[in-house]
Amino acid sequence: MLEKFSKWKQAFHTEEEKQYDRNLDLSRIPKHVAIIMDGNGRWASSRGLPRIAGHREGMKNVNKIVRAANALHVEVLTLYAFSTENWMRPKAEVDFLLSLPERYLKSELPTLIKENVQVRIMGTKEALPVHTIQAVDEAIEKTKHNTGLILNFALNYGSRFEMAEAMKQIALKVESGELRAEDINEDVIGAHLMSCQLKDPDLLIRTSGEIRLSNFMLWQLAYSEFWFTSVLWPDFNENHFREAIATYQNRGRRYGGL
Ligand code: FPP
Repeated sequence: MLEKFSKWKQAFHTEEEKQYDRNLDLSRIPKHVAIIMDGNGRWASSRGLPRIAGHREGMKNVNKIVRAANALHVEVLTLYAFSTENWMRPKAEVDFLLSLPERYLKSELPTLIKENVQVRIMGTKEALPVHTIQAVDEAIEKTKHNTGLILNFALNYGSRFEMAEAMKQIALKVESGELRAEDINEDVIGAHLMSCQLKDPDLLIRTSGEIRLSNFMLWQLAYSEFWFTSVLWPDFNENHFREAIATYQNRGRRYGGL
């Protein structure tokens, strides 16, 4: 494991990457970066491989970006790992996708602990396999006191589902008299979302050339900057990540003001 840890460090400190860092304003790194990791299937098909080979490669790629985000002191990295719509895929693919958190954490949890990364999950545990839940619960528990990067997996997550659940909870509070209808505002709604402990994303990245949100953080992305690339997720690397951040730093965020 120590060997793997030192590989992490070495990989980050290449001359090329140091050069790239000099182009970034380290005082204006986006605090929360959210990524729709798309294109695993196409990556595999273009090589004549089964789709799950693309997902396996996509899982390996998570490390690269976690490392880059941590090194740049991004506070939160949210990764869309499995959507509530992904259940519509063939069972074998769904099973494989839901085995990825466990596979990833089995190999990387010690490094994440050492790197001071805090693992979190955003989504519903309902219908998830027990082994997936156990693996993520263990990671959440073992990293809960870490103070570095928050690695937030959106797992069995759908934004409309999240909002419907929030509305249900709010309605129940109104029904019981705990909350008055006239007191419902944006803060109250935000506090009932699965992301309630996190700031909204500053930057959204989507790979693979698709230009849509696919039911991802619809409320939270209201004022985020979007960056799309045709690069497929398994090929998306540290330099692409820094390029997205450099572009973000060149945008003027006005939040509807002047
Ligand atoms: C979309 O690509 C990608 C997914 C549905 C899964 C994304 C998951 C990972 C990248 C790995 C997650 C890792 C961990 C550790 C949980 P697609 O299959 O729709 O690709 P396509 O559009 O080219 O078919």
